[in-house]
Amino acid sequence: MKTEALRELLSHMSLEEKIGQLVQLPAGMLSDGQLTGPALEMGLTEEDLRLAGSTLSIIGAEKIHAIQERYIENHPHHIPMLFMADIINGYRTVFPIPLAQGCAFDPHLVEDCAAIAAEEAAAAGVHVTFSPMADLSRDARWGRVMEGTGEDPYLNGQMAAAMVRGYQGRDNDLKKPERLAACVKHFAAYGAPLAGRDYNTVELSERSLREDYLPAYQQAVKAGCVLAMTSFNTLGRVPSAVNRWLLRDVLRREMGFDGVIISDWAALHELLAHGIAADHREAARLALNAGVEIDMSTPVYCKHLKGLVEDGTLPVSLIDEAAFRVLTLKNRLGLFENSYRNAGPEAERKTLLSAAHRQKARECAEKTFVLLKNDNDLLPLSAGEQVACIGPYVEEIKLNGAWSIFSEDTDTVPLRQGLETLGGLNIRYAQGSPMLDPGSLLMGFQTMVDLPNIDAEAALREAVALAKTADKVVLALGEPREYTGEASSRAEITLPECQLALLREVARVNRNVIVVLFCGRPLDIRPLKALASAILVAWMPGTEGGPALARVLYGQSAPSGKLDMSFPYCTGQTPVYYGQLRTGRPFRGDYRTQRFFSKYLDIPNEPLYPFGYGLSYTSFAISPVRLSQSTLRPGEALQASVTVTNTGKRPGVETVQLYIRDDAASVARPDRELRGFQKVTLEPGQSREVSFDITEDMLRFYDLRMAYVSEAGAFQVFIGSDSTTENGAAFELVK
Ligand code: NOJ
Repeated sequence: MKTEALRELLSHMSLEEKIGQLVQLPAGMLSDGQLTGPALEMGLTEEDLRLAGSTLSIIGAEKIHAIQERYIENHPHHIPMLFMADIINGYRTVFPIPLAQGCAFDPHLVEDCAAIAAEEAAAAGVHVTFSPMADLSRDARWGRVMEGTGEDPYLNGQMAAAMVRGYQGRDNDLKKPERLAACVKHFAAYGAPLAGRDYNTVELSERSLREDYLPAYQQAVKAGCVLAMTSFNTLGRVPSAVNRWLLRDVLRREMGFDGVIISDWAALHELLAHGIAADHREAARLALNAGVEIDMSTPVYCKHLKGLVEDGTLPVSLIDEAAFRVLTLKNRLGLFENSYRNAGPEAERKTLLSAAHRQKARECAEKTFVLLKNDNDLLPLSAGEQVACIGPYVEEIKLNGAWSIFSEDTDTVPLRQGLETLGGLNIRYAQGSPMLDPGSLLMGFQTMVDLPNIDAEAALREAVALAKTADKVVLALGEPREYTGEASSRAEITLPECQLALLREVARVNRNVIVVLFCGRPLDIRPLKALASAILVAWMPGTEGGPALARVLYGQSAPSGKLDMSFPYCTGQTPVYYGQLRTGRPFRGDYRTQRFFSKYLDIPNEPLYPFGYGLSYTSFAISPVRLSQSTLRPGEALQASVTVTNTGKRPGVETVQLYIRDDAASVARPDRELRGFQKVTLEPGQSREVSFDITEDMLRFYDLRMAYVSEAGAFQVFIGSDSTTENGAAFELVK
């Protein structure tokens, strides 16, 4: 439909009909088209349901078709409904969680996975995905770190943009039926709740908001993302859903976003709990004024906007503006011409869990595993070795992460099955330990976690007996899926004691312990580092986790992942991340001479494993940094290069990382910042030159007056295999 026709349509709509476009009702209220319990509780009428412009969490082509058909028929202007859903790391074919995907440092791969997720979900009738989550996250206690790509603003931006390109296509042509509209969230700074507790207050300076937290959302917007979701948290003590400055000034005017802004689930109702609105009427006024177009899952807009316009509190132009944006989105998706977008059982059959999709899920998983430790080249395993494979994760099928709510766990291939499919191996299996400690505080999860009832002592005995006679032990440990995701913050990010006991007992009888760690966040893994000779982080690896792990453990593919989030030394060290500001009292490790310095008395300042870190089955040498010139002027590019050599005996992939430090500036700057990365694949003995262009815009920051500028002076560039590299060279920015 042409824009004029859309405007024409709007001009024929009544106030109620326009407000209907701004109302999103949850699945339960719409699926049978009847007024059911929750709808009645919300005071909704048949008319409200008839006009509500969108819904969420309904999936399945046939179901959506039926609802859409009835809806269009009953709508006074036959406007189709929008179907939204959380398609986070896959729909039926599930990829590793986003935190894992970030570790691949491979935007193309992430784009491919998002494109597959879109194709599958679109075949099942979905129009919009609530992804990417571009929230920078630096506190591993926060359960939602699993949904983002970690602690670095630059990497987050690359990944958020890649996901948007995957969902919406590089041409952003949403009329193509295999595409989804993307919704970047949670705007803004949802990833920085105080003390890592979900939904908690966020306190950030405007400078760190702009410099660290906004860039990833900005990249998503730049990639063409057509929706944005507000965050639950307050920022500067204002909940985002009513933060006019944040939504209208920053997101729309400065960042150039012209899509649809949607509130997060029930956020407008929660304004009462925040102590911001006295009642729903006030909530409606504040949110529409601030710029929220769609109210997710509350009766606030539905019940109050009309009265607010009729008594002159809100101008009708605000309703028109908002409704027009929603209609524009529907039009971009081609819904006026093709309301069902080729979704259907046939499309579902062809695409869901297809062999090609499974293959991509396996490939992706292989690239996201991070090898933290591999003493004496314990890995890879070889077929001739007698291996004991032990642990609560050996046969676990819940490997999809907290957000794969539309997948079937039974489609997931667990570790054991992956190993068995490789064939010809000498492996014996045992569970060894329950997943959780009976009686622990975390048993509050009993309602969510299905705990197999096993005799822990007998399981441990059997495991130790197996371990005793094996050449090597693969211990599959981890936190259960339900320990991360929304509302799953933890104050002690350790493994359950029963699993640590298993590790201790097994390590007592076998020195060759390899831990495969399943988790949705960085954990305190000091006992693993102390007792295991090898550690491979598998994250939540998705549908093809088992086969991917089997291939990597047996060397058919080599680990190449790098941490996108530091593993803290212990919980008390969180949040810990590489890009911290320098202090006036930097501690250099000498407790005798450095009494009054920035340090802990009981633990090091450094994380256990830093951002960017990850080993392979081979080794790499990176030459000193060469600079094409020692000064840089605006408009020029300076080349910084290194030679990377595979110095080991196996082929491998190294992720070469570029960091820049601003030596002195008018405001404190991070110790260093990631500004580029490149992956190189090298055969043993092979070398390759890797070169990065450094330009003036890469040196900008928010100065004293909050202007985004660079300042002349000295900089250092570091190129290496993780964020701690000291392989550097100096240059000067001359203006
Ligand atoms: C609440 C979550 O915060 C958000 O990320 C999600 O998209 C919505 N619920 C919808 O399910």
